[in-house]
Amino acid sequence: MSNITPKEKHDHQILKFPKGFLWGAATSAYQVEGNNTNSDWGDKAGLACDQYNRYESDFDLISQLNHNSHRLSIEWSRIEPQMGVFDTSEIEHYKKVLKALNDRNIKVMLTLWHFTLPKWVADLGGWENGKTVKLFEKFVKRVAPEFAEYVDMWITLNEPGVYVYEVYITKKWPPQKRGFLGQVRTTLNLASAHKKVYKYLHELSSKKPVGIAQNVQSLEAYHKHSLVEQLAVIVSDIISNHLFYYLTKKTHDFLGINYYFHVKFKTPENKLLPEIADPSSQSRNVSDLGWEIFPEGLFDVLADLSDGIPIYITECGIASTNDDRRNRFLITYLQEVFRAIQSGINVQGFFYWSLIDNFEWEKGFDPRFGLIEVNYATQERRIRPSALVYTDIIQHNGIPHSLLRFIGHTVTTEEVLEKRYQEITHL
Ligand code: BGC
Repeated sequence: MSNITPKEKHDHQILKFPKGFLWGAATSAYQVEGNNTNSDWGDKAGLACDQYNRYESDFDLISQLNHNSHRLSIEWSRIEPQMGVFDTSEIEHYKKVLKALNDRNIKVMLTLWHFTLPKWVADLGGWENGKTVKLFEKFVKRVAPEFAEYVDMWITLNEPGVYVYEVYITKKWPPQKRGFLGQVRTTLNLASAHKKVYKYLHELSSKKPVGIAQNVQSLEAYHKHSLVEQLAVIVSDIISNHLFYYLTKKTHDFLGINYYFHVKFKTPENKLLPEIADPSSQSRNVSDLGWEIFPEGLFDVLADLSDGIPIYITECGIASTNDDRRNRFLITYLQEVFRAIQSGINVQGFFYWSLIDNFEWEKGFDPRFGLIEVNYATQERRIRPSALVYTDIIQHNGIPHSLLRFIGHTVTTEEVLEKRYQEITHL
């Protein structure tokens, strides 16, 4: 006779994550705050989610959803609207914001730069100008001592590679530049800014881990035996996934990974060089933005980047108005994180992108990434059922069997959350 207790039996049916695992969601200041008019993005986001004023009630929702951590950023252009002029009321505002998370027992991962620059920095040439490294360092030296007591982990820069790509290659983001040299200079300046700020934050407190959030991609050759496609994979892997870590090596207490993309290189007939295949034209499973849903890729990038230091998935999420797809997304992506941990990869946290629907840069407000839906006309919030699937996972510190049963099917909220479904109305 087996002497397994009912509790043990129950626990065996859960894909358990390590004790102390960080569960949360991420946002960035410009995308959610509203009335941010002093940056190089101007007033494009308008009122956004008005989180500048609604942070208390938004953080109450985080608590109700049982997240134990949250990733957010501060807006440089608010705090230093002119060179050397620091607005102390904005510093006080952010202290209140951070304290509001502390008061709710939510660990804080604070990003110091998430894509936007004060207008005056942009006028000086932005990151292409070496001076910006010094200006950013000065900014951090002024604000970090003010915020340090409320912060658990620092992210210096968000996705330097994506920034360079959107500014210089797609030219969709300000300052819409061109030129190879500019790209190189910007990349090197961002790397130098990270290294300087890393060193400074360690002087401030050696105990608070510092890292970056890097966009990494799962890369593949469409034809396994195509040499050019394999070469494209290698070159891309170096540039997109490893270059920035290499330029800043030994200045990471953890690896922050943002995972969204599975890229397949395919050589069109009658052509010599491969191109990135469009997933939507290949009947691959895609989000509302046409980005492929490919959970296995998360395992691949974790395995590719792992070198023993802690890894946090600082962003991972899906733009979809179909919330059943978000349920399935959460379960299948987190199952890959579980698999990675089982294989010895040191993953210590997961931050879903995003807590709430928000301003998706040049794509505006249509993409819906949120666990919480925002009605932009009224600023009302509605907790999406998928947020409760995530909460179910958080409360078990793992993926319960009841959720795993649905992998391979469409995961509808009613099926998955039978018992918790009524709770939606109580939140
Ligand atoms: C960025 C976010 C963005 C998200 C979804 C990441 O590249 O850090 O600002 O909203 O992806 O596109």
